[in-house]
Amino acid sequence: MVYRARVADRSWFPTSIEGQSVVLRRHIPENLAAFRRWYADPEIARLARYQEGPMQVEEIDRFFQSRAMGQESLAMAVHVRETGRLIGTCAFSQLDGDNGSALFHITIGEHDAWGHGFGTEATELMLEHAFRVLGLHRVALSVFEFNERAIHAYRTCGFLTEGRSREAIWRDGRWWDELQMSILESDWRKRPGALDVAVADGTQPRRGIAARLLGR
Ligand SMILES: CC(C)(COP(=O)(O)OP(=O)(O)OC[C@H]1O[C@@H](n2cnc3c(N)ncnc32)[C@H](O)[C@@H]1OP(=O)(O)O)[C@@H](O)C(=O)NCCC(=O)NCCS
Repeated sequence: MVYRARVADRSWFPTSIEGQSVVLRRHIPENLAAFRRWYADPEIARLARYQEGPMQVEEIDRFFQSRAMGQESLAMAVHVRETGRLIGTCAFSQLDGDNGSALFHITIGEHDAWGHGFGTEATELMLEHAFRVLGLHRVALSVFEFNERAIHAYRTCGFLTEGRSREAIWRDGRWWDELQMSILESDWRKRPGALDVAVADGTQPRRGIAARLLGR
């Protein structure tokens, strides 16, 4: 498939995406050390993982190679813009050119960086890339219902809850639902501030790389 080839050659994979408080940069092999710390953290595992407890180191290493460095996803490291500090990672996986969709994932791995707006801004930057540059139609994600900080951040970025897997996760001694959330390109275009972006950078919506490759 053309789109898959394009994923492999990575020509649309940005070197960096600059926001106001964060900069997204491509991962480098040295970021493995941070992945090993983040994903060995029981609290990160509690919030984001189906299985009890964190990943083993070999699993983290495989995850880093496939998700952060691999060719099947578009992953970016999240850095604090002011200091350059590496605080997390975000990614699109399951990029589907036939249907213009992808799954979104984010982990701000450094606890002291939570609640400063970094995750929300990183998500907004990734959505802008998805819809304005890649020309995707839809971005989806899954989140456990007890992860209220994440749900709040996703809502702020325009994600809507579209489904719920009832009692899909056992955590802290009880069952919880898993929410499916998504944002469509049309939702994103209608959000407050969308016009500002278009006017400020002169881009025309929104037939990006995925759509051009597919001849739409
Ligand atoms: C989820 C995550 C990406 C959010 O990033 P962040 O930088 O911590 O979040 P932000 O500061 O951008 O936004 C958090 C928002 O949630 C709000 N919030 C925090 N705790 C909350 C709670 N218990 N209930 C409701 N809202 C809450 C904050 O006030 C903030 O909202 P505001 O911007 O309107 O003030 C990050 O915390 C993280 O990676 N956590 C660990 C891994 C994880 O949960 N990943 C997601 C798996 S689906």
